[in-house]
Amino acid sequence: MTHYLFDLNGKKALVTGGGRGIGKTIAIGLASAGADIAITDIDISKSTEIKEEIQKLGKKCVFIESDITDFSNCKQIISECSMNLGGLDILVNNAGTNVRKTVNEVTEEDWDKVLDLNLKSYFFMTREAGNEMKKYNGGKVINIASLMGWSVFRNPKKQTYAPYASSKGGVISLTRSFAIDWAEDNIQVNAICPTFIETPLTNVLKEDHLVYDAICKRTPMGRFGKMEELIGPCIFLSSEASNLITGTSILVDGGWYAS
Ligand SMILES: NC(=O)c1ccc[n+]([C@@H]2O[C@H](COP(=O)([O-])OP(=O)(O)OC[C@H]3O[C@@H](n4cnc5c(N)ncnc54)[C@H](O)[C@@H]3O)[C@@H](O)[C@H]2O)c1
Repeated sequence: MTHYLFDLNGKKALVTGGGRGIGKTIAIGLASAGADIAITDIDISKSTEIKEEIQKLGKKCVFIESDITDFSNCKQIISECSMNLGGLDILVNNAGTNVRKTVNEVTEEDWDKVLDLNLKSYFFMTREAGNEMKKYNGGKVINIASLMGWSVFRNPKKQTYAPYASSKGGVISLTRSFAIDWAEDNIQVNAICPTFIETPLTNVLKEDHLVYDAICKRTPMGRFGKMEELIGPCIFLSSEASNLITGTSILVDGGWYAS
């Protein structure tokens, strides 16, 4: 049985990029704690399977197919979500991307692609969601940032983290700023900063022993994280258990930043 402080029954959550990877795992994790779920993703090919999994938990699940880097869509996504679920209490900004290139290979298009999805969409989604949450007496925003927003990995292949780390550092600052803007509206805005997690986005790293071994060696706990290890922090930040916490970033990094 869920402790009442972590109980999300009656809550309505929207997860961006919940069509696979970390977003999908978080969506199912929030449903397992009691929340009804809306997922927005540009790729809805796995929607039936995810819906079934969430419905088996006795929770609603709606999919909204959308490209959140077309920022004019953000308002529509929030109203569709709120209309279908009967309100909005929790937003998880999760959809993100990376380019793996050396500094001189990065194009302006690469820079814009990473920053538009990883940072700019977080601003517009958060703003629209917050305006909706104010109608329902507050809410929670959880931004999936990254350890790379705090500490950049020295990649043995000299691939740069400049666009990605800039976007994630920006998310950490955006989190603080919205937290202050909306402190009096009972909307808590926090970030989760994961280390390297085993997902489709990082499969390529796992297959590359030079990079994989360097990451494991650099991590005190000696391994990548698992997607399921992000569910607990996300439920915590979505629940009453974190009501006095806003503007902070939780490192979920196997001890990386401490060492
Ligand atoms: N995987 C890791 O090791 C790791 C580590 C730290 C932080 N993160 C962060 O976690 C988040 C999720 O990462 P992941 O590994 O699950 O990624 P992923 O690539 O597996 O999933 C990203 C999801 O976002 C969706 N998406 C992409 N562009 C979109 C758009 N324009 N509009 C709507 N949806 C879109 C994709 O279709 C996909 O379902 C990202 O913000 C990432 O930076 C990942």
